[in-house]
Amino acid sequence: MKIAILSDIHSNIEALEAVAKDAKEWGACQWLVVGDIVGYGAAPSECIELLRKLDARCIAGNHDWGVIEKTSIDYFNFAARQAVLWTREQLSSQSREYLEGLPLTLTHGEIRLSHANFISPESWEYVFTLYQARRQFDGFATRLGVIGHSHVPFIIQASEKDGRAEQVMGESVKWKSGSRYLINAGSVGQPRDDDPRACYLRVDCSGREIAFRRVTYDVAGAQRRISQAGLPSSLAERLPLGR
Ligand SMILES: [Fe+2]
Repeated sequence: MKIAILSDIHSNIEALEAVAKDAKEWGACQWLVVGDIVGYGAAPSECIELLRKLDARCIAGNHDWGVIEKTSIDYFNFAARQAVLWTREQLSSQSREYLEGLPLTLTHGEIRLSHANFISPESWEYVFTLYQARRQFDGFATRLGVIGHSHVPFIIQASEKDGRAEQVMGESVKWKSGSRYLINAGSVGQPRDDDPRACYLRVDCSGREIAFRRVTYDVAGAQRRISQAGLPSSLAERLPLGR
């Protein structure tokens, strides 16, 4: 069983299409999405449509809930707020219903998803440090816990025996019995780890391997779409920088 886990797509259809193609070629047969389908980018309905076609199981992120007014956007920066307001105007009633139907967390076999964190998902608090990451293992009971939100990929491995948790260096890990993992899936549509390529997570259940995958996509196309929509130029300018 090969599962593709995507996070923080952010209305970037050029990146999502490239990731979908890459993951299909790898043999992905299940699709999980860790929230923030919309916001920042200029193709919200196109992204929702493609996720429907893939029959992806998705949860909500703060931007998804911001668009449907289920969470406050008062703390969003100017550009993020502009994009949320623009997205509200663009969405069809069908796409809005789709966002309204997204759960905050979900469990898929041995995988638990929550957009920001597992301790208080609706707080949207970030996991930036090892200290914060260690606390997360008390918030899910499955072998893998996957988050997004910061747009920066990482893997933390914790021993079931003594609870010790450390960051895994590198792009992949063979998962061991006796260990649990907290993973940030990175971002498909707006990576912020200085690598502009779209990022997603490959989980190979039979090979018991977790690996990040980076995919080049039509960044210029995504930028053009943002400019044509009249969204803040900073949203286009950051894409080739991976920030
Ligand atoms: Fe995000």
